[in-house]
Amino acid sequence: MEWDSDLEDPSGGEEEEEEEEEAGAAFLLNGGPGVFSSAVESALGSSPSSYGLVVTDAFEPDHPIIYVNEGFEKATGYRAEEVLGRNCRFLQCRGPFAQRRHSMVDSKVVSEIRKSLENGTFFQGDLLNFKKDGSPLMNRLQLTPIYEDNEITHFLGIQFFTEANVDLGPLPGVFNKDATSHTIRTAVDQTLFRPVAAVHGHLCREFCCMFQLSDEVLCQKILSRLSPRDIASVGSVCRRLYFLTKNEDLWRMVCQNAWGSEATRALETVTGAKRLGWGMLARELTTLEAAAWRKLTVGGAVEPSRCNFGACAVGNRVVLFGGEGVNMQPMNDTFVLDLNASHPEWQHVKVSSPPPGRWGHTLSCFNGSCLVVFGGCGREGLLNDVFVLDLDAKHPAWREVPGLEPPLPRSWHSSCTVDGTKLVVSGGCADSGVLLSDTFLLDLTMETPMWREIPASWSPPSRLGHSLSVYDGRKILMFGGLAKSGPLRLRSSDVFTIDLSEEEPRWRYITGSGMPGAGNPAGISPPPRLDHVAVSLPGGRILIFGGSVAGLHSASQLYLLDPTEEKPTWRVLNVPGRPPRFAWGHSTCVVGGTRAIVLGGQTGEEWMLSELHELSLASSRV
Ligand SMILES: Cc1cc2nc3c(=O)[nH]c(=O)nc-3n(C[C@H](O)[C@H](O)[C@H](O)COP(=O)(O)O)c2cc1C
Repeated sequence: MEWDSDLEDPSGGEEEEEEEEEAGAAFLLNGGPGVFSSAVESALGSSPSSYGLVVTDAFEPDHPIIYVNEGFEKATGYRAEEVLGRNCRFLQCRGPFAQRRHSMVDSKVVSEIRKSLENGTFFQGDLLNFKKDGSPLMNRLQLTPIYEDNEITHFLGIQFFTEANVDLGPLPGVFNKDATSHTIRTAVDQTLFRPVAAVHGHLCREFCCMFQLSDEVLCQKILSRLSPRDIASVGSVCRRLYFLTKNEDLWRMVCQNAWGSEATRALETVTGAKRLGWGMLARELTTLEAAAWRKLTVGGAVEPSRCNFGACAVGNRVVLFGGEGVNMQPMNDTFVLDLNASHPEWQHVKVSSPPPGRWGHTLSCFNGSCLVVFGGCGREGLLNDVFVLDLDAKHPAWREVPGLEPPLPRSWHSSCTVDGTKLVVSGGCADSGVLLSDTFLLDLTMETPMWREIPASWSPPSRLGHSLSVYDGRKILMFGGLAKSGPLRLRSSDVFTIDLSEEEPRWRYITGSGMPGAGNPAGISPPPRLDHVAVSLPGGRILIFGGSVAGLHSASQLYLLDPTEEKPTWRVLNVPGRPPRFAWGHSTCVVGGTRAIVLGGQTGEEWMLSELHELSLASSRV
């Protein structure tokens, strides 16, 4: 099937229209013989940010842009605020200040576009565009008119950008025309893609192939690949898209694509009655407009009283293990608080073969319902043992995992889990108060796992009391701690990241002020601190608060950082409600992806575990 021939036979009757819709759907679903399907499939099959999405206002003269997505910003280097209100043709000019279309942009394709806009018809074709920095891009552009009551209100542009194999020479405008135009031609030929002839205006609705698709296909194959922000914008384009973007299944897919399946699964554990719709959840977790502090009083007791325990969330349950009792007594008992219960109560759980008592250890959740304890300070000194527990097992029992070649015994280190199965341990304090800077990984799925040190040519300075937060799959962000700075130990506000999916992962310094040669930190950075709380939000952002902060700074002030931004910048997040006066890293956990629970108001050495503070990130509906 050729594109042109497919378009030359528009149907009239309803039945035929339905058939066509189905054919269109099958066409896209099966990958069909046409080039459009494979273009869409291959482009949308990649990450949602790899294509641009532009909406222009057809009522205003010269089609000004009213919306661009993040993919557009990333691919072109132009930010939304720089391009809103402009016509898209600036992409045909080399450099942000160029006034003229570049001579290598195919003027035939440009006049095809012009005709399509005049006639209100669908367009697709390839043309040369330029990024803000002047580098060339090949743009496989699709333009679709959006109708409301027989009138075109908007045009929707989808841009599949690929590298342009064009040598423009060292100076803009100086090039060997013959050689370069040949290269472009080859690039376009290789795509086996050609522009569709313009069709007259009144027929165009039948020809807007995106709109020929059934609701189901449009949702599952196109809209579900967009980001939450895009879906919100696309919903304001026309009635059909508005109703489609109200679909809960679509929003679930969009949230899953944006946040990963682990985060969406965690969000699903929030009890049915209290859970918002996915669309609302996406909005509230993106804007954080509903975030609020609230105080909770729970029943039961954690006895004997203690501090420096480990806590973490398993779904909607908070689990507490060990800690330091009176006279530095190391504890080894396990308590669970089920926040799904109508009157949550601390319950001592009888678990056989508990690990030796300890404090200053870490407790992390993996594989849905499992817990892992590492290190800490025990009766005999520092520890480097590993114990796991499946909380949902019929007869829960701690089991020691004999890890080969373990890291040095330590306390006040930081841990996290990646891939739901691997424990990551970094830094901490070894014997004689030596601070560590190493990073180790243990695969808990193996029978006798082998500790693996992540070799790094450079590591952040050694530290304790820092936090590790997982974002974007297998990336880890390290923040703060008490770090070695020359002969001194100072509180730090430095941010480092490492990507464990890289073949040779390496630590990168992101922002802060404590490193030699570092400039001003980006944005309003949190005052340096240790033993703080770090919460990973869906979508990759990290929220920091609490800990030990010098001076008069409020420990409950919230700071937000998005490490996925090109230049991550700290922002202050003001949240209503009553925050806790203190919040410590080892005593805080995130429940169901939307609530950070701070255990205990501290009075001197005592922790009042019946008084909790909750930072809820989404509003709850009862
Ligand atoms: C929604 C929409 C998106 C567009 N996207 C692009 C684009 O990515 N690159 C481009 O070169 N032109 C794009 N155009 C086309 C130009 O804006 C412009 O219409 C074209 O250059 C023809 O008009 P002109 O001859 O007045 O420049 C887009 C147009 C619309 C309506």
